[in-house]
Amino acid sequence: MRVAALASETDFDGWRKAARRFRAAGVRPGEAAFRVGERAQADLFGSAHPEEGRPGEDRKELEFVVPRAFVELAQAVILHRSEDRFDLLYRLLWRLEREPDLLKVVSDRDVADAFERAKNVSRASHKMKAFVRFRLAEEDGQEHWVSWFEPAHRVLERTAPFFARRFAAMRWSILTPDGQAHWDNRLLTFGPPATRDMAPAEDEIEDFWKTYYASTFNPARLKTKTMQGEMPKRYWANLPEAALIPELIASATNRTETMVAAPAPEPNPRLAKTLSRINRDHAFEEGFVPSSLEELGQAVQACRRCPLWRDATQGVCGQGARAARLMIVGEQPGDQEDLAGKPFVGPAGQVLDAALAEAGIDRDDAFVTNAVRHFKHTPRGKKRIHQTPTTSEITACRWWLDAERALVKPKVILTLGGTAAQGVLGRKPEVTRMRGQVVPLSDATALITVHPAWLLRIPDKAVAAQERERFIADLKAVQRLL
Ligand code: URA
Repeated sequence: MRVAALASETDFDGWRKAARRFRAAGVRPGEAAFRVGERAQADLFGSAHPEEGRPGEDRKELEFVVPRAFVELAQAVILHRSEDRFDLLYRLLWRLEREPDLLKVVSDRDVADAFERAKNVSRASHKMKAFVRFRLAEEDGQEHWVSWFEPAHRVLERTAPFFARRFAAMRWSILTPDGQAHWDNRLLTFGPPATRDMAPAEDEIEDFWKTYYASTFNPARLKTKTMQGEMPKRYWANLPEAALIPELIASATNRTETMVAAPAPEPNPRLAKTLSRINRDHAFEEGFVPSSLEELGQAVQACRRCPLWRDATQGVCGQGARAARLMIVGEQPGDQEDLAGKPFVGPAGQVLDAALAEAGIDRDDAFVTNAVRHFKHTPRGKKRIHQTPTTSEITACRWWLDAERALVKPKVILTLGGTAAQGVLGRKPEVTRMRGQVVPLSDATALITVHPAWLLRIPDKAVAAQERERFIADLKAVQRLL
């Protein structure tokens, strides 16, 4: 067994160097081991081959180029808490030489396992962004905000820059069992593992969080399972507002009845101030540039650019390939999309999927989104009836679409229906007249077509079939543009 010592649990450079050296020396998976800290010391002394590089080996280089996608995958997987992650990555590295397309074989056990672990890591980072709560402490007479957080995986270093961008004007520290991150308005630094007692236990802001949470908790929308999925219990211990959850759930039925009967409450000025600070901290206004689709998807939940958020379950952003050459833009999430948080999963989505398949376009290769992020509707009995967004709502929402365009950088943008065309072009086009037309844009080429929901509403079967064929022809034209 050959053993490499790593400086820390997240020492990617150390792992990479050792793995390259092992690979160049022909050390097979199963014969290579990676150890951290004290375990490394113990293993090194017990090992027949302490890995300090053998004569002549240090300078040997790998003779094949590792795909960029593997490096990105490995950088995520290494943050996973599993013991065997180094071995899994080395196995993949070993196999990549003979199987250069290995990462595309998603049915392969190692590949699937690695992507699953990377997904868990990304989710842990997500949760950290959502559930870190700072408490006010003082240091040298200055305000200092401190948080204690226990991430599911070792995502502190990966996620801390997000907090530095979002809370750039504050001095803060995030303490975790894996390490500490500190921001002094200027510089982000990291320190050794911390313990819970190093962070303040409670502060006056606690009450604000509780008031805010209790007032935004909508008993009529209570879905306990979904809520616990989004806000897993493991994070509750450090969330001030979590103390309220059992009581809020228990009283949900009563509160729903009271809420329906009661007149709209006057806004509480203190709460309004807190809310505006929270909105500001979600910084979707001036100056905020989302650095990833993930960040964009989170920030949209705090969007108050127009009133549509009030009646929607959530903001729905685009989904699909991050560097897609094709972006497909619809109008707004419908009833099912509003609940699922994903675009085009309802009836219009099925029409779209079938037509794409007939035109030879794989939806997974595209990025599918909408011009408007929130479901605009009006209640009719138990149903929520779709309403077309106004020009001012489409204009307010363009910010999100533009941000997605800047991140995905598609070559071709397919607009479905009038709202989509207006969101993309910035003016109201006449879709029936412009249908099938190619419009050059500063960042891409747009092709205008009708909305699949419109195809569903055509009463005459023959006309509907004819229009569907024209729709597929438009999609084929898109395929040619690509
Ligand atoms: N219609 C749209 O325009 N978008 C969706 O996401 C669903 C239905």
